[in-house]
Amino acid sequence: MGERDDGRPAGGDRGQQELTGFKAGFLETVSHALRGPIGVIISYTELLADERDQFSPEAAGFLDVVRRAGEQLDRLLSDLVLLGQIEAGSVRLDLAPVPVGELTAAAARAARPAAERSGITLTWDAGTGPPAPGDRGQLRRMLDYLIGNAIQFTGNGGSVQVTARCDSEWQVEVADSGIGIPAAELAEVFGRFYRASTARAAGLPGAGLGLPVVKALAGLHGGRVEAASTPGDGSRFTLCLPLVSAGQADGAPDPAAGGRAR
Ligand SMILES: Nc1ncnc2c1ncn2[C@@H]1O[C@H](COP(=O)(O)OP(=O)(O)OP(=O)(O)O)[C@@H](O)[C@H]1O
Ligand SMILES: [Mg+2]
Repeated sequence: MGERDDGRPAGGDRGQQELTGFKAGFLETVSHALRGPIGVIISYTELLADERDQFSPEAAGFLDVVRRAGEQLDRLLSDLVLLGQIEAGSVRLDLAPVPVGELTAAAARAARPAAERSGITLTWDAGTGPPAPGDRGQLRRMLDYLIGNAIQFTGNGGSVQVTARCDSEWQVEVADSGIGIPAAELAEVFGRFYRASTARAAGLPGAGLGLPVVKALAGLHGGRVEAASTPGDGSRFTLCLPLVSAGQADGAPDPAAGGRAR
């Protein structure tokens, strides 16, 4: 069965919908059970990190590895649950006017320490424009994932440039000078668990869930995400967000009133 832009199955087959709903519920239950122990790992490693001057450099390094692994597991679970919910059509977007330029600058600023640790120059240029209707938390998640990818797949000495501009829509562009993606794989990277040959060859880890989440959330916002890349030269991902909510654009009731995302 094909997939709509927002990650939900095409067609209205009732059995399929029930199965999708069951899957989403199952994922939520498993995730709920795992969140507790993962939260313990993260919070206790954070507590230990506060005492890092009492550890040898090697032990402090081990601690960082455990904490990062806990954070990765936490994100993996939240991505799986969100994708399941989007597929089941049960995601609630908390829609409000969002200053996209400011949000972009905040996401870029927050990513700077990670970029610096990897020897990458991260710059941003957040333009002005009217707010876009969106779920602030989910928009921030999309920006974090795109900027995180740009850092992850760009080597020491490289650069990442984040630009937000508004014309007839908001366009947030995340351009890097990293390893790139072969043209034949550009559409594939939005599929679940897909990892491009360039990332695999470079031995860079990842679950392959970030871009599917970004694509599905962009679709729920009535927007889209575009990719362009030259292997060895860099990649450019552009998140496009409309200035009117998906409901207003087609004359339907405004989902900003608090309804379910469709
Ligand atoms: N900026 C980029 N430069 C090069 N390759 C990229 C870039 N962004 C994404 N990719 C490729 O697309 C794949 C899918 O990206 P995605 O964000 O979905 O997964 P991931 O980063 O591998 O893992 P995670 O689930 O932790 O995000 C990556 O594994 C990588 O091969
Ligand atoms: Mg990613």
